Amino acid sequence: MRPPTRVVILTGAGISADSGVSTFRDPDGVWSTYDWRDVATPEGFAADPALVHQFYNARRASVLAAKPNAAHAALARLEATLGDRLTLVTQNVDNLHERAGSRRVLHMHGELMSARCGACDFICPWTNDLSVETRCPDCGAGHMMRPDVVWFGEIPRFLDEIAVAIRAADLFVSIGTSGSVYPAAGFVGEARGFGVPRVELNLEPSENAWAFTDARYGRASEIGPAWVDEFLAGLSA
Ligand code: APR
Repeated sequence: MRPPTRVVILTGAGISADSGVSTFRDPDGVWSTYDWRDVATPEGFAADPALVHQFYNARRASVLAAKPNAAHAALARLEATLGDRLTLVTQNVDNLHERAGSRRVLHMHGELMSARCGACDFICPWTNDLSVETRCPDCGAGHMMRPDVVWFGEIPRFLDEIAVAIRAADLFVSIGTSGSVYPAAGFVGEARGFGVPRVELNLEPSENAWAFTDARYGRASEIGPAWVDEFLAGLSA
């Protein structure tokens, strides 16, 4: 049988856990300390922008202090071989894929290292803290800048591009996501509808583990590189 060469990979917080970046829904995850309604919705930002800035400033600092792990590096190796036959989609707002060498990453939930104007949508790179005093440098409306992340109630990015890639794929792989937030949690179902084989790599079975055709459980920094090595060996066999 011809080895799969058009691959869609979806990553979640679990791939960055071994870099020391907290996940969301694990027992010690971010949502055990914060209520997502307060810090990850437009309504929360309107009610208390200082709290929201404080939350993302801490996340940004923790990502800047972290280093990509072997799973991020393995996906960069995969891209080096597959080129644009790999579509790497991440729910993560961190930049660890890029820092490991990935060049084409679809950040469907936005990016922590950029800031956006709430009025004119001007976006610029941002690695410092944001505050209620930070004003848009572009629009002149003096509007407050916000983290360039997609909050609950907002529309994730690149959905058309992702749908096209899943339809054309001959392998779908999910790494380090609990499968509890849509639309990302629905991608495995889309792949299933098109008859695309589906592999789950996660610490434990996700909420939609039933929809996968193959699964490996363990730490992403161990099972991720092992899976990539196996995949690349299959390509050259
Ligand atoms: N290796 C692999 N998987 C891990 C590891 C690890 N070292 N540590 C934890 N995991 C797994 C957990 O078992 C869990 O299934 O990663 C998953 C993380 O799930 P979530 O915390 O729910 O993160 P994610 O699926 O990315 O969340 C989706 O929810 O709040 C939002 O916007 C946020 O993008 C995020 C979205």
